[in-house]
Amino acid sequence: MTGEILKFLREKEYISGEVLACKLNVSRVAVWKQIQKLKDMGYKITSDQNLGYCLVSRPDLLLPQEIQKGLSTNYIGKEIYYFPELKSTNIIAKEKALHRAEGIDEGTLIIAERQSAGKGRLGREWFSPVGGTWLSIILYPQLSPSYISRITLMTAVAAVKAIKVCTQIESQIKWPNDILINEKKVCGILTEMSAELDIINWVVVGIGINVNVDRRDFPEDIQENTISLKEASGKEVLRVKLVQTFLQEFEKYYEILKRREFSSVLKEWKLYSHTLGKKIRVDIGGRIIKGEAVDINEEGALILKKEDGELVEIISGTIV
Ligand code: BTN
Repeated sequence: MTGEILKFLREKEYISGEVLACKLNVSRVAVWKQIQKLKDMGYKITSDQNLGYCLVSRPDLLLPQEIQKGLSTNYIGKEIYYFPELKSTNIIAKEKALHRAEGIDEGTLIIAERQSAGKGRLGREWFSPVGGTWLSIILYPQLSPSYISRITLMTAVAAVKAIKVCTQIESQIKWPNDILINEKKVCGILTEMSAELDIINWVVVGIGINVNVDRRDFPEDIQENTISLKEASGKEVLRVKLVQTFLQEFEKYYEILKRREFSSVLKEWKLYSHTLGKKIRVDIGGRIIKGEAVDINEEGALILKKEDGELVEIISGTIV
């Protein structure tokens, strides 16, 4: 009911408890209780004896009703599970993805204000304090499992676009999944999947963006290489707008991917690449390969030209 009350509060400057009760077919006491609930969530609502309730300000929380208001996607984010705190949105998303038959549809979103055990790639911890954006999207693509790296690359393009729209900042993609601003990491992507030989059961795309967080809140060893959008832009960023923009971009690129038109996504990825043209070292399960990053192929693999001229195709690895 809070969602409906909010809708009415947004429509008019003032609305009386009586009118709200009538519209929702509940008692005035029930309306009052919901108003208290909204206040507890951080909505500032004043009340005037004659005029009724007035919505003064909204909290900077990633509440489903805030994200969904004005969200123009067809299915990404149509269902949102919101948590003030949880261990990891990817963990919850993976549990939910198993319940597809019970109505966990493609595009379902898990979002949290804070993660107590956020997961990074290669079993690393992902520090996720309040002020960031930590979310996971459940997908059931009818694509071959080999598409997994393309999904990660496409997510990175959507994130760069959303960051640009909301902050004007040009960020760059470090293959395969880091978004950088001034050489420092602002966003990471963790794509997980369950698949059989040639079919995907589910994919969970987890993305973490350091939005309005303070670098000094991060563990000391990663402070140096970390940045937030607030720090880079010099002001707080509207997280709801950022999430909405990201979801819209994500759906757009995911649709392109499903049409198997990855080459157009790849073209954009290359425009934002931080990696191509650089001499790098890549860790592939403990083995280090050195060379120049010359290309990303149609499968999303990095093409490395070794010093002896040999070209190596790397599907999964970490630039060190
Ligand atoms: C990385 O760069 O190592 C990937 C980081 C991915 C972090 C996000 S935050 C939301 C989602 N839930 C998690 O536990 N991890 C991903």
